[in-house]
Amino acid sequence: MTKIRLVGIGMLPQRDLTAGGLAALRASKVVLYSSFPHLRPWLGSLGLSRIEDICDHYADGGKDVDNYTAIVGAVVGAARRNGDVAYLVPGHPNLGVTATQRFLAMAATDDELDVEVVPGVSSIDTISMDLSLDLLERTCVIVDSNRLLLLRQQLDPRAGVLVYHASAVGTTTTDYREPWITNRIELLQRYLVDTFGEDHEYHAVVSQTVPGVRPRVSRGTLGKLSEAVRSIDYGTTLYVPPIVKRGVDENFLRLLDSGVAATRGARE
Ligand SMILES: C[S@@+](CC[C@H](N)C(=O)[O-])C[C@H]1O[C@@H](n2cnc3c(N)ncnc32)[C@H](O)[C@@H]1O
Repeated sequence: MTKIRLVGIGMLPQRDLTAGGLAALRASKVVLYSSFPHLRPWLGSLGLSRIEDICDHYADGGKDVDNYTAIVGAVVGAARRNGDVAYLVPGHPNLGVTATQRFLAMAATDDELDVEVVPGVSSIDTISMDLSLDLLERTCVIVDSNRLLLLRQQLDPRAGVLVYHASAVGTTTTDYREPWITNRIELLQRYLVDTFGEDHEYHAVVSQTVPGVRPRVSRGTLGKLSEAVRSIDYGTTLYVPPIVKRGVDENFLRLLDSGVAATRGARE
């Protein structure tokens, strides 16, 4: 049996790596990473057997799909050679990571391949921290910018929106150094303005990923989003707060006021 552990290392791994994540790394014969060269010294301090840098498989300017294919191929190859490997994933492996879906799909059709997802602290966690926001308090939906536009998904202005991959609108290439060159953010701007209006605010959030570098939150209005394209980098998520509207379901409000919902369990 060949085993691959997809280990979520959180946003700031030195702070976020979980006990489960550390145990998974220590249990693996080889630990591979494709996008964190700066983490090498810290990884070295964790007492891991072997660490392998496969960052050359993640080409800036390359097609997204080619990059995923190269990375998945390198990890599966290492797993077949060594029997047991871990692959580092930023944040949580199940949030916006195409490679995770590929690994899981392979395991579903290969009895000899076992893929384990080890959860990590995601950008949803750190963004809510950076904005001092409880996302349930005023409701929030999470969207991928390209799927939003492709599927013309209906937004409700009474719910907030977290827009992922805002640095790669309308492009299928990986441009992590200068994403603004290919980013068609004006298309996203138009779509959000249709729902929220051009004077409505957005918050562009970059959570902390490196010790000593503070999180960055910049604000603007949706009508001018495209003017800020250069500040929207690979690690930026947009938060659009909900439009607060008066008007509630009066019957449901009476139910809450009467305390019936709270006492029902005691009566049954
Ligand atoms: C490929 S997804 C990876 C998400 C990651 N698995 C997670 O759990 O947060 C990349 C997207 O995550 C968001 N992201 C990544 N790093 C971030 C950061 N430091 N702060 C805020 N959002 C970030 C951005 O929307 C970016 O386009």
